[in-house]
Amino acid sequence: MILLTGGAGFIGANFVLDWLAHSDETVINLDKLTYAGNLENLASIADDPRHIFVQGDIGDTLLTSSLLARHQPRAVLNFAAESHVDRSIHGPEDFIQTNIVGTFHLLEAVRAYWGTLAAEARRDFRFLHVSTDEVYGSLRSDEPAFSETHAYEPNSPYSASKAASDHLVRAYHHTYGLPVLTTNCSNNYGPYHFPEKLIPLMIVNALAGRPLPVYGDGQQIRDWLYVTDHCSAIRRVLAAGRPGQTYNVGGWNEKPNLDIVHTVCGLLDELRPRADGKRYSEQITTVADRPGHDRRYAIDARKVEVELGWKPAETFATGIRKTVLWYLDNQQWVSNVQSGAYRDWVARNYGERVR
Ligand code: NAD
Ligand code: DAU
Repeated sequence: MILLTGGAGFIGANFVLDWLAHSDETVINLDKLTYAGNLENLASIADDPRHIFVQGDIGDTLLTSSLLARHQPRAVLNFAAESHVDRSIHGPEDFIQTNIVGTFHLLEAVRAYWGTLAAEARRDFRFLHVSTDEVYGSLRSDEPAFSETHAYEPNSPYSASKAASDHLVRAYHHTYGLPVLTTNCSNNYGPYHFPEKLIPLMIVNALAGRPLPVYGDGQQIRDWLYVTDHCSAIRRVLAAGRPGQTYNVGGWNEKPNLDIVHTVCGLLDELRPRADGKRYSEQITTVADRPGHDRRYAIDARKVEVELGWKPAETFATGIRKTVLWYLDNQQWVSNVQSGAYRDWVARNYGERVR
């Protein structure tokens, strides 16, 4: 079996569903259930005996050590993190605690467990750390995409905390020989994406008749990957990646934010036209920019493609259509996640941005 952390969040939940669709190997899913963790994401496997959910913190060494000793997983995959850049600007402490201190405690528990394994199991064990392209910082328009050897230049408390966790993972390989793998992926989108992030926020606000808040000039570029393509890359890296290596994962889909918002609006115009006959793009408003906003991310994914034979299955056109359709078909999920805490966050983040 495998032990996964953060499997009630956006990518983790998609990964659990994807894993069980491709394998009969049991998943132990350790998740703290912060505001971003949602067991509703896993409702379709609620009765599946191959999924064992445990609520808890990756920083709780007693808990992680006992889970490792009891279940003897062949791999640990670390998805758990505080993941939203804007929240890291408003309050970095949780990011330091989970992304750095939590990953450190998890690594310590895994190192101790790994040391108890017999030679063959020790050799085959893997610790896979799920990280982000944001650790590399921001690209100018004329610079090549991030390769695995690009310098780490994180600019937000979120990306700095992820960079620190990547360095710890690297050090546990070099110092202790722990067989680690790190993936650095670009922006994901798809089902179960919490509507604090750009694409789901735009869909949800558009349908509710609210403004579509674009930060600054909207010309910041992100490199978008449909979430199940990220999941297939992680499965491939886990199966065939070389211990100690990092793999950049991306979809070769660089797009300015404003283009993304117009694409979402166009799909909604087609699939759920506004009752008043107007276009959703009329709801677009520019608001004050994110402090320290990275201008451009782009992933050079040739290593994972050439070395491991991975390729994304979706284009941006197919993935974004699936995503919009998923949100239209899952309005109950959307209203369930828009709790009081969600509304407080929206008021805090956007209240002070209005120009
Ligand atoms: P998310 O915020 O949707 O989910 C994070 C999950 O981790 C939640 O279920 C939360 O409850 C859990 N969690 C938080 N703190 C925890 C702790 N201390 N102990 C146990 N569980 C805890 O995040 P996501 O977008 O699914 O991202 C998952 C991972 O992928 C993160 O490590 C993130 O840095 C990385 N990543 C995300 C993207 C993206 O576009 N979303 C891209 C590349 C990499
Ligand atoms: O690149 C990978 C990263 O992608 C992950 O590591 C992060 O966990 C994930 O949250 C994401 O970070 P971003 O900051 O790129 O994603 P976000 O959806 O918050 O914003 C995408 C872009 O859209 C960014 O340039 C900011 C802009 N934006 C965002 C929001 C929420 C807006 O213009 N308006 C908004 O309301």
